[in-house]
Amino acid sequence: MAQQRLRTQVGIVGAGPAGLILSHLLHLQGIDSIVIESHSRQHVETRIRAGVLEQGTVDLLNEAGVGDRMRREGLVHHGIELRFNGCGHRIDMYELTGGRAITVYAQHEIVKDLIAARLESGGQIFFEAGQAAIHDFDGESPRITFRHAGEEYEIACDFIGGCDGFHGVCRDAIPGEALRFYEKVYPFGWLGILAEAAPASRELIYSNHQRGFALMSMRTPQISRVYLQCRPDEEIAAWPDERIWEELQRRFEMSGGFRLNEGPILQKGVTAMRSFVAEPMQFGRLFLAGDAAHIVPPTGAKGLNLAAADVRILSHAIARWYGSGDMELMARYSEICLRRVWRAQHFSWWMTSMLHRFEGGDGFEYRRQLAELDHVTTSRAAATSLAENYTGLPFDLPGERL
Ligand code: FAD
Ligand code: DHB
Repeated sequence: MAQQRLRTQVGIVGAGPAGLILSHLLHLQGIDSIVIESHSRQHVETRIRAGVLEQGTVDLLNEAGVGDRMRREGLVHHGIELRFNGCGHRIDMYELTGGRAITVYAQHEIVKDLIAARLESGGQIFFEAGQAAIHDFDGESPRITFRHAGEEYEIACDFIGGCDGFHGVCRDAIPGEALRFYEKVYPFGWLGILAEAAPASRELIYSNHQRGFALMSMRTPQISRVYLQCRPDEEIAAWPDERIWEELQRRFEMSGGFRLNEGPILQKGVTAMRSFVAEPMQFGRLFLAGDAAHIVPPTGAKGLNLAAADVRILSHAIARWYGSGDMELMARYSEICLRRVWRAQHFSWWMTSMLHRFEGGDGFEYRRQLAELDHVTTSRAAATSLAENYTGLPFDLPGERL
């Protein structure tokens, strides 16, 4: 069978947020790319994932001209609630950070906006691309091969963006001895639901309860997104809708009374939780970005935001190389990204350990958590630290100026 041969400047594996934002940012700088994605367009445009965008991610999407719908439909939040011991405590992030906020806007809506923008400006995305493999990225002429609609393809390129998520092929293609992995697996997961029910509170509620953690978020003023801590291998079949609502109502209970609004559950799923980092994030002309390089537990709402931060640096580094042949930023890609990644790892681990129920023990962990929550909700310094991390550290950390 004849092979279709294509040529581009940057070949990108994965049409998640990392791959699509990278492709779009490169396009704005006059650099061509081709994206290949193993799933269908419909699948990636409806896959329910993250929802909380840091101020910096919102600014990036706006500056890149893909923020119109997010500005219209996204919900801007100035605070979150931490609920424990039957009482709610608001963290006023906006006031504590001098005017920074988060925006609740679903990840798949960002994906939709980016796909539309790429296709409108003539960008190429191959959906349902099978058997992707990357080659020769330790030299100057990397290649990506794949199958699409019964044909074999090869893309010759200058650089490869490995944006194919945690289960992708790019990270595994790097020789094992060149990478170091750091990993922590948590003894629990999250059962997440999307429900046709008005959120019971205007802002997100993170609840520490002796029966386990629960989080109330939302997608629109009519749709709630709610999570509860469960076993990592929890069978979804064991959770009929009534059981989910009953458990959620208990975990959000308050001394003054509180009820979540209930409604038809539109979607449910279980996610296991881990912290993971692969170092370095570059090998030759292959650059890993987003979940392909690192995973955080979702309690800090950082995964999507880290993916956006990685490709922001990567697009600058690549543009600088094409513009002036300057390799310096490219050579520092991994070091620059990993600084933010490890800050987010720490914050996500800290939020997770403060809010979840850990098995066994004599109750020491729970009493320690209550003391920590008491501190975070009564000390301005501690609340400010949470607010700064949650709304997102500035894009240019000291020593990282672009
Ligand atoms: P992905 O979104 O995983 O995209 C990778 C893409 O590559 C996929 O489309 C995949 O199909 C494709 N692919 C994989 N293998 C191949 C292959 N061999 N060939 C071609 N294509 C391939 N993050 C936040 O910031 N805030 C939140 O509130 C938040 N909440 C979350 C809640 C849940 C329940 C979950 C599961 C995650 C949450 N996250 C959150 C994390 C966030 O969703 C991820 O960090 C984000 O999707 C990472 O984007 P990515 O582009 O790196 O990877
Ligand atoms: C959502 C997900 C998170 O992981 C989080 O910490 C907050 C909100 C959400 O999906 O809305």
